[in-house]
Amino acid sequence: MQIPSTLIRTMRVASNVSVLTGAGVSAESGLQTFRNSGPEKLSGQALWSQYRPEELATPEAFERDPELVWEFYAMRRLKAGEVKPNPGHFALTEMGRRIPHFKLITQNVDGLHQQAGSEGVIELHGNITRIKCSHGCGVLTEWEDKPGQIPCCPNCGAKLRPDVVWFGEMLPPMELELAMEAAQSCQVFLTVGTSGLVQPAASLPLLARQEGAVIVEVNTEVTPLTASAHYFLQGRSGEVLSELVRLIWE
Ligand code: OAD
Repeated sequence: MQIPSTLIRTMRVASNVSVLTGAGVSAESGLQTFRNSGPEKLSGQALWSQYRPEELATPEAFERDPELVWEFYAMRRLKAGEVKPNPGHFALTEMGRRIPHFKLITQNVDGLHQQAGSEGVIELHGNITRIKCSHGCGVLTEWEDKPGQIPCCPNCGAKLRPDVVWFGEMLPPMELELAMEAAQSCQVFLTVGTSGLVQPAASLPLLARQEGAVIVEVNTEVTPLTASAHYFLQGRSGEVLSELVRLIWE
C-alpha cells in the first residue's frame, strides 16, 4: 500500500494530532470486531455468536439475566487478558511520544492501547477490566473473579457490573468532552479500524473536518466515513500505521 507523500509531509509538521480507534485496531491481536467476524474469530467467542451485541450489552439484558451478561463479559475479559497489543497499537504509542499534542480516543474496552504504553487514553466506552455499581452509586473497582457469583456493591448492595457503556446509555461526560475538544483542536485526525456506525464517536471525524483538520482513515474496508476523509489508507492497521510511522520519522 502506497502512502501519499503529501500526507507524510503533513504529518511531519503536525504538532496536534488526534486519533479515534475502534475494534479493527485490535483485530490483529486476535480480538473479534463487532460487525464483521473475519478470520480473527476465536473459538471461545463463537459460543456467543448466537447473540448480537445489542442483546447482551444493554441495561435491560443485565436486569433480565445478570448471570448471562456477567458470563459474556467474563469471557471477553478473559480473551482480552490473553492477547497482546499488535504493531498498530505500538505505532500509535510511538506517535504519542513524538507529537507534542497527541490525543488517543478509543471505543475499545480491551485496554490494549495502555498495554502498548499509550498514555492519557480517552476511553469513550469504558474498560472491561473495571466493574462498577449497577445502581450508579459511584463505586468503581477492578474486576474480581468469583465464579458463579456476581459481586455486590459494598456501599448499597446492588449488583456490580462491567464499567462499559451499553446500548442506550450515555457516554461518560468527561471523556466525551475531552474527545470533542481533541477533535476540534487537532490539525490531523486519524480514524482507525472503526465502522463509523456508532454515535457519538462516529461524528468526531466530521467535527474535526468542520474545524479544518485533515482527515485520514485507516481501514480494511470502505465505511460511511470514507467519503469525508482526505486520505483513505486501505489495509490492516498494524501494517499501515507501522509504515506511516516509519515514513514520517525514518
Ligand atoms: P466494528 O466491528 O463496528 O468495526 C470494525 C471496523 O474495523 C470495520 O470497519 C472493519 O472493516 C475494520 N477492520 C477490521 N479489521 C481491521 C484491521 N486489521 N485493520 C483496520 N481495520 C480493520 O467496531 P467499532 O467501530 O469499534 O460499542 O464499533 C463501535 C462500537 O460498536 C463499539 O465500541 C461497541 C459496538 O457496539 C459499545 O459497546 C457501546
